[in-house]
Amino acid sequence: MVSRVIPVQPFDLVLFGATGDLAQRKILPGLYHRFEVEQMPDDARIIATARSSMDTEQFRAQILASMKEFAPGFKQDVLDQFLQHVEYIPVDALGESGWSELSAALRPDVVRAFYLSVGPSLFPGIAQRLSDHKMASPDSRIVVEKPFGHDLASAKALNEGLRACFEEHQIYRIDHYLGKETVQNLMALRFANSLFEPLWNSTHVDHVQITVAETVGVDGRGAYYDQSGAMRDMIQNHLVQLLCLTAMEPPSKFSPNAVRDEKVKVIEALEPVSPADIARGQYRADKGGDGYTDHVGNADSRTESYIALKVHLGNWRWAGVPFYLRTGKRLRARESEIAVFFRDPPHTIFPNVGPLRGNVLVIRLQPDEGITLRTTIKDPGPGGFRLSDVSLDMSFADALGEDASAPDAYERLVMDVIRGDQTLFMRGDEAEAAWAWVDPIVEGWEDRGDRPSLYDQGSSGPEDALMLMHRDGRRWRQIGG
Ligand code: BG6
Repeated sequence: MVSRVIPVQPFDLVLFGATGDLAQRKILPGLYHRFEVEQMPDDARIIATARSSMDTEQFRAQILASMKEFAPGFKQDVLDQFLQHVEYIPVDALGESGWSELSAALRPDVVRAFYLSVGPSLFPGIAQRLSDHKMASPDSRIVVEKPFGHDLASAKALNEGLRACFEEHQIYRIDHYLGKETVQNLMALRFANSLFEPLWNSTHVDHVQITVAETVGVDGRGAYYDQSGAMRDMIQNHLVQLLCLTAMEPPSKFSPNAVRDEKVKVIEALEPVSPADIARGQYRADKGGDGYTDHVGNADSRTESYIALKVHLGNWRWAGVPFYLRTGKRLRARESEIAVFFRDPPHTIFPNVGPLRGNVLVIRLQPDEGITLRTTIKDPGPGGFRLSDVSLDMSFADALGEDASAPDAYERLVMDVIRGDQTLFMRGDEAEAAWAWVDPIVEGWEDRGDRPSLYDQGSSGPEDALMLMHRDGRRWRQIGG
């Protein structure tokens, strides 16, 4: 299979927050990689801005240092050429300095994109200044990072602030999970094959488990994380997006609004979650090491670093099918997957083999991206008729060889911005609908004063999460198994 790189149009990409962690760790290395595969045209320009006063040479030196740390496989001669496309202009995002220089640097006839790799409180102010300085042309794009607000009210305020200066078709709200290759593969699996779709409903599916397990803690991001917790940091966006792609109706075409219309319908069908269907956890200190409360510097914190929820969709296709979502930090393994459990066979013709187990389709998002289907076969050998569960296992790395080495999510997403393709970005109503579902859940535990239960670092999460499943006569798939 030959991977194809389709060059994009010439562009001016203005990167706000260019000295920040995300820009240095992901966005700039991502752009370098797109340059290396010759997707960036010769006259593409990256105009990096931040408050720090430095010149372009100093900023280029900073990129070099970051590449050594975060993308050590880079080629020095290619990087030297890439850096010629990067310039730096100091701009005070909320003050007045630098804006005229930035405006003067922009070219009239190329794609213009403003990437706000800054905290959400800065979004409306930057949008306003871009508009005041006449930089926001009708065709320009504005890209905003997550978190897109803290609750419904703040998300609405952000939408209003952005829409005061940009039209919805110009606003690109990032959820980097949508840029992950296997997440997009979920749509290919469902809508480019005829095998699965007829079975993809409550008649055949018993339940679905969506897991995003991490081994990292919250070190270094304590101040943000302690105000958010796993529900706001991961469920409201990444896991809800995975749920949408798993549960949505087939869109009529693969176009931004057709796909996003279907996703919004899924979010709007999410039913309120009862407290009994929620398990929250916080990782405890391990022997001689720190725990969550030490990492966030708040001994009395009630914020969850783990959450599991049983969720129902009130619609025709999924009525009665639970979707179990779980995500947490400092768990046994870094593992993200969607597992669709099909119903058990209704009747067994084989004597003495016990109840038959349903098939399970697992879409592994990371690491070792691939798809597995648990099936039941006859144990080889003469004598009695025994059955075993085996997996039909497709690892993308084995199946696709070199082509399986997918670009980082950010590479894909930034190029989609330049192309003007919003399919993999959240629409404003989608973000608001997700907050409208999340808010009452969070308010519920805040009003009750619930405390998360403690779990061991390196474990699968708190006991309560196991109980949540056991109560329903089901089991979680093993993390790191
Ligand atoms: C971010 C969250 O959006 O996603 C982090 O804020 C989390 O807390 C990260 O660690 C996970 O992303 P990935 O791509 O490493 O799975």
